[in-house]
Amino acid sequence: MGLMSRKSIAELQVEAGRGILSRSLGPLNLTTLGIGSVIGTGIFVLTGTAASHNAGPALVLSMIIAAVACGLAGLCYAELAAMIPVAGSAYTYAYATAGEIFAWIIGWDLILEYALSTATVAVGWSGYFVSFLADLGVRMPPALTAAPGAAVPGGVGTGVFNLPAAVIVLVVAALLVVGIRESANTNTALVVVKVAVLVLFVAMGAAYVRRANLTPFVPPNTGHFGDFGWSGVLRGAAVMFFAYIGFDAVSTAAQEAKNPQRDMPIGILLSLGICTVIYIAVAVVLMGIVPYARLNVPDPLAVGIDATGLRWFSPVVKVSALFGLFSTMLVTLLGQTRIFFTMSRDGLLPDAFGRVHPRFRTPHVSTALTASVVAVAAGVLPIGVLGQLVSIGTLLAFVLVCIGVIALRRTRPDLPRPFRTPLMPWVPIAGALACLAQMASLPLATWIRLAVWLVVGMLIYFLYGARRATVVRAAREPAAVAGD
Ligand code: ALA
Repeated sequence: MGLMSRKSIAELQVEAGRGILSRSLGPLNLTTLGIGSVIGTGIFVLTGTAASHNAGPALVLSMIIAAVACGLAGLCYAELAAMIPVAGSAYTYAYATAGEIFAWIIGWDLILEYALSTATVAVGWSGYFVSFLADLGVRMPPALTAAPGAAVPGGVGTGVFNLPAAVIVLVVAALLVVGIRESANTNTALVVVKVAVLVLFVAMGAAYVRRANLTPFVPPNTGHFGDFGWSGVLRGAAVMFFAYIGFDAVSTAAQEAKNPQRDMPIGILLSLGICTVIYIAVAVVLMGIVPYARLNVPDPLAVGIDATGLRWFSPVVKVSALFGLFSTMLVTLLGQTRIFFTMSRDGLLPDAFGRVHPRFRTPHVSTALTASVVAVAAGVLPIGVLGQLVSIGTLLAFVLVCIGVIALRRTRPDLPRPFRTPLMPWVPIAGALACLAQMASLPLATWIRLAVWLVVGMLIYFLYGARRATVVRAAREPAAVAGD
């Protein structure tokens, strides 16, 4: 009974109208929310990792593959986000289309996308922070700058705990507890900073690009799947996919949007488009300045600037990266607490995750609990492990969203759709295939981690969530459950 229980769209719309969270975000806020969430560790750090390990100059192709997949999935997200304007993102859509157990699976999977990507971005932040401190002559104890077993910046020895990464997560959480309005405005200012520095990087670096650095465009495969060659381009896409994650965070703020029907698709697609153009330009310029093999560092953009000799610009890039990555964490952690909020209201998580602070009107308990776990993850896990796990988890969520759009068109063709995904069913089919191809290119170890995560999730569901959700539903609508 409980497993397949679905929420009616009307029920979701009533929830949206309850006004538990304040409605304060317009289209500009939503687009900046998207950009704030998208531009982060992906472009500032993983560009160097993926270029040096997987794709070389052909990383540009990887970026295009990842962007196309996101664009296709984004069009599906936009249809659902406009149709079901409540917090909870793909989780809520799954509840409406496929039932409780699928909603739980996707909600559990989304923890990889939101909470774990906050941890990943925190590790990227830490890399630029340590590098900036070193420029000022302040050296942190190397053991406290990287995860256990991970190389410390500078490459001498390995870390024990990534302290800056853990601390910055807690700072972000404290801001979020104070309230969405302040957080969204801060986010807007920070988005301006990071877009400006990336545009400046391209404008100033373009003169230093050397064609020789960009040839061969597709370096030959080393004999291992995913290490250069065309398999490297595909794995590079899966790694760089991380850089695009976040545009869907716009949909998690639907409950706080003034006019969700019109503004959600605008926010999602505009933020994705702007970021794609910026990424491709930055990647071409970066790899044109520095041979890609030298980019496996925690602060590749700073290495690019140093190579130009424009030394004054290096601290500008680092400080902007610090602020920019901070804004990314602000949005991803916000998204996670809102998803937990909705899951708690459905009874799948304890009440604490749905408790709202009487004055700040934010889910303060959920924010504190989530941030504590994320801070530990950021302290002990290396960026490669984190980034790939976030990518595979999010790609899986996107596949499910694409399938969900097709399913809902069939089962509920009558529902008003303020935004319709074009070229049905080809866009969702192509989106799902593009995401599956990137998943397939990731290493076996990443697949095993995903499988373990999903199994743990199922255990929690059957031991806790399923029973409690039934009780919560019974309290909410006794007649419906009795006749279920
Ligand atoms: N897309 C976000 C980033 O690159 C998660 O950091």
